[in-house]
Amino acid sequence: PYPLYAELRKTPVVRDGTGPYLVSTYWEIQELLHDPRVSSDARNLNPEAAAFLGQEEEDPNLPPTFLRLDPPDHDRLRDLAMRPFGPPHTPRRISDMRGELAGIVTQLIDGFRGRDHLDLVDSFAYPFPVTVICRLLGVPREDEPRFHVWADTLAAGLDPVHGTPEEREAQRETLRRARADLAAYLAGLVEERRRSPRDDMLSALATDHGPDGRMSPLEMVSTAALLLIAGHETTVNLITNGMLTLLRDPGLLRRLRDEPALAAPFVEELLRFDPPVQLLPQRTTLADIDIAGTTVPKGASLWLLLASGNRDPRRFPEPDRFLPERPDNQHLSFGSGIHTCFGAPLARLETQIALTELTRRLTGPRLAEDPPPYRRNAVLRGPRHLPVVIEG
Ligand code: HEM
Repeated sequence: PYPLYAELRKTPVVRDGTGPYLVSTYWEIQELLHDPRVSSDARNLNPEAAAFLGQEEEDPNLPPTFLRLDPPDHDRLRDLAMRPFGPPHTPRRISDMRGELAGIVTQLIDGFRGRDHLDLVDSFAYPFPVTVICRLLGVPREDEPRFHVWADTLAAGLDPVHGTPEEREAQRETLRRARADLAAYLAGLVEERRRSPRDDMLSALATDHGPDGRMSPLEMVSTAALLLIAGHETTVNLITNGMLTLLRDPGLLRRLRDEPALAAPFVEELLRFDPPVQLLPQRTTLADIDIAGTTVPKGASLWLLLASGNRDPRRFPEPDRFLPERPDNQHLSFGSGIHTCFGAPLARLETQIALTELTRRLTGPRLAEDPPPYRRNAVLRGPRHLPVVIEG
């Protein structure tokens, strides 16, 4: 998609017919992410955007989460959800997890013993963050095969660019069912934790009384679903993109293996260069807004092309070069403003540990297929499989 983004950046805001306004340049995206006149609320979508995104109807089982709400509801729910992690806990709690994360990684890599062919997605990049988010939330790991299917369906449903009307209706029906099943499953768990709390996030969600109002049972279920899915479908792509980059550049792979301090800046450059969330398709203007000389009318649908902003030469010198020690790397890949990714510290740490350990422990890894097969999804970008050959 990157040559297309470069073409789009010639005009910061473009519109194809009656479709959404595409915003492709760094400073404009950054400004819009901080503009209170730009709404994330699904209920503000205009009818064409709602139809295009398959969101004409509200789902009674999973009401909108704070990802898709504006203040004040956004702030109330995000604060409550963050409480178990929230400031001042976040940095401590997440970095405290280093040992536990490394343990899960070691166990997964130990499982490669005796094998010479691997799919790094199915055997590592997927199970690792899923195990972590299940432990954090307190969702039983053995139920994973069930919500793997739901999570995949929900992720596919994020893709606004899909098939014929019949295919879309069939997809919508599958999505409805997946959401209902996931909601029923999580409602059961939340109720269980409300009765007998443990030391996990589901219990915190189910029992916490905030000064600014507690969550309703439905909001708890929605929030749990958001965390479960967000922890599923994004970090896997970052880890896979990282291994793909390293396997294509053996010199870089050796450097990362020998210089653990490179892991953090390497992961930032990876986020900038090939972000797992390519674009945010769900923003609506609440007023006429001037964007780089174009007046976008009230009620218009905006797509913010984060991945394009990350390659904007007005912000990043030599944007198409992968520079693992790039200074001042304030990419847009976790968003910005009030919706800035809640899981960013966790995703960063997971990916740093994963890539460092894989480069240290895999012997003679080579790509078995280049390019690997990609997912068909315009929002979430990453290989569906990453077949590699290793020396046993
Ligand atoms: C929000 C990306 C991992 C939970 C976001 C947003 C982006 C993003 C771009 C902003 C959405 C918007 O403004 O509309 C990513 C990427 C990840 C990642 C690239 C991995 C590499 C995670 C993880 C979790 C998580 C592991 C949970 C543990 C959330 C939540 C929000 C969010 C709850 C909504 C925040 C809000 O609306 O206030 N993420 N995410 N993310 N992310 Fe992540």
